[in-house]
Order: sequence, then structure tokens, then C-alpha cells
Amino acid sequence: MTEEIVVIPGDGIGQEVVPAAVDVLQATGVDFEFVEAAAGDHVAEEGGEPLPDETRDLAANADATLFGAAGESAADVILPLRDAVDSFVNVRPARTYPGVDALKPGMDVVFLRENTEGVYAGHEARLTDDVSTLTRVVSQSASERLAEYACEFAPEGFTVAHKANVMRETDGLFRDTVQRVAEEHGVETDAALMDALAMHLCLRPEEYDVVVCPNLAGDVLSDLSAGLVGGLGLLPSANIGEERGLFEPVHGTAPDIAGQGVANPCATVLSAAMLLEYLEYDDEAEDIRDAVESVLAHGPRTPDLGGDAATTDVTNAIVERL
Ligand code: NAI
Ligand code: MG
Repeated sequence: MTEEIVVIPGDGIGQEVVPAAVDVLQATGVDFEFVEAAAGDHVAEEGGEPLPDETRDLAANADATLFGAAGESAADVILPLRDAVDSFVNVRPARTYPGVDALKPGMDVVFLRENTEGVYAGHEARLTDDVSTLTRVVSQSASERLAEYACEFAPEGFTVAHKANVMRETDGLFRDTVQRVAEEHGVETDAALMDALAMHLCLRPEEYDVVVCPNLAGDVLSDLSAGLVGGLGLLPSANIGEERGLFEPVHGTAPDIAGQGVANPCATVLSAAMLLEYLEYDDEAEDIRDAVESVLAHGPRTPDLGGDAATTDVTNAIVERL
């Protein structure tokens, strides 16, 4: 069976790391057909919409989409794309690898980030010259859907991040709903205030396995964890919907290194492995992870990991191991 994958490189290093991940996917032996689509700042600069309808529709109808990053137009691109695939959770694993110099060598945590609401619901307003507001949305239904997924993902239990001591109504609803659903499934949880959790993750990350987060907390805690494991070049993610998925590195367009050919492709290659797993090619996904792990252990490595290799050197080394 041919798997049709929509590929949206976007801006900046997205143009470098997405082709790298496509090369790796092609080396797995799975029969793929890649359909490339445009989105991002470069489309807007040419007078188009940052997310053209055609690109949105392709993602909305594909089983899986591989996305790089968008620059200043990120909110106009990635939020509607996540919506187009009806994605309710963003899965963000953060782990260390042998051979990679990490602040916290024992870390292996997966963040399950609520992907539809919170402060990203888009309800911002300028009230007066002096005052702007933001309406934070938390619903019982979205919290339940996330919790159901978390119970399946982590039957051995998980941590719920919240700030219900201040945001009593919204995060109170989030925390209580997620914990109630977990209890109904016989899954153990503990609730953690997200600010203190940030500190605990830095001091003792080995105490955490799976952390279920409101939208913004998931964004911030996963980037914090990227810093602990060796950088954003290592963090993949999967936006999971009932019938479709959108797979993307956690990082952005990295304008400071874009165009130099030195971006670390591992985050996007590992996102491609999550794509394969979503399409139930578990063995091929595992092969990619093993190949990445081996390259990280023995090199070549890109400059963010202390090496001097180019994106293509690392990609070729991963392909060779496959
Ligand atoms: P960023 O993730 O692009 O970069 C942060 C730092 O990490 C930079 O020093 C960069 O060089 C480094 N880095 C990131 N990925 C790397 C890789 N693969 N290899 C080596 N180094 C890497 O975040 P920043 O600088 O805050 O944002 C830059 C642009 O990206 C902004 O315009 C922002 O809106 C956009 N962005 C888009 C996202 C998306 O499309 N999903 C997500 C985050 C940011
Ligand atoms: Mg982010």
C-alpha cells in the first residue's frame, strides 16, 4: 500500500531538516508518496496567505503530514494546521542519548500537551491604549479527551501539571477532570503546580515519566526539557487526531543558523519516526530511532551538539545505518 504523506517544510531550517527526514523515510523501504505543500513567511512575502487553503486541505485529508516550522507567521500556520487534522494532543518526548552532553543525563519524560485551547484559543483584545486582555479557555470535553489519551498512553500513571491555586476556575477544571478520568480508568496520577514542577524537572527529572499539561505549560516545559537533554535539535513531536496526525520538531525556524546547512536534523527525523508509528509501521519507526541513537553516540554531530558536521552528513549517516 502506498502511504501518501503531505510534506510542508515551511521557513528557515524547516527547508533543511524536512528534506533530511524525507530522505530517511525513503530509506525505510515503506512505499511513500510525498506531496509537497507550501506555507509560512515566504508564502506571505510573495503576497499569499501564510497557510494557503490548498495546503490546509491537503493536510486535512492526508493520513499524515510532516511539517518543519514557520517563522513570524507561525501562529497563522501551525495553529490552523493542528486544527485541520483535528489534533487534540501534542506528544513531546524529551530524553537524553548516550554520547550527547546533557545537563541531566538521566532524563526521559514525555509531555502530553493539550492542543486545542488554553491561552492559544485566540481570544485576545486591546481594550484601551493601556490595557490588553486574553481569555483562557478550558473545557471539560477537551480535558476529558486528553485524559483518555493519557490513560492509554501511560497506564502506569502520570503527573498532571496545573496552576489551580491561582487559575482556580480554568486549571481547577483541567486538573479535576484529568484526575477524575484517570481514576475512572484505575490510573494513578499526581498533581503538580507547574512552577514548582519546572524546578523539580531541572533537579530530578528521573522522577517523572509522563506529564499531562495545559497548552502553554506544555510548550514551555518541553522547551525547558530540551535545554536539559542537549537542545531543541533533539525534540520531536506528534500532533495526534482521531484520524490524522501532524508531525513536527518542537523547534522553530532557527533564523540564527538558517541557510548554513548545519541544523540538527534529528528532531525532525525522530518526528518522522513518530509518523511511522502512527501509521503502524512500528518496526521501521524503531529502526529510525536505533539509527539516530547510533549516530548520536558515535557521530557525526552538528555544531549544536559540539560537532562540526553538516545536516547532510548526519542525515547520510542515519540513512547508512538503516
Ligand atoms: P527556535 O526553536 O527556532 O530556535 C531557538 C534556538 O535553538 C536557536 O538558537 C536555534 O539555533 C536553536 N535550534 C533550534 N532548532 C535547532 C536545530 N534543529 N539544530 C540546531 N539548533 C537549533 O526558536 P526561536 O528562535 O524562538 O524562534 C524562531 C522563529 O521560529 C520565530 O519566528 C518563531 O515564531 C518560529 N517558531 C515556529 C514554530 C513552529 O512553526 N512550530 C515553533 C517555535 C518557533
Ligand atoms: Mg514552542
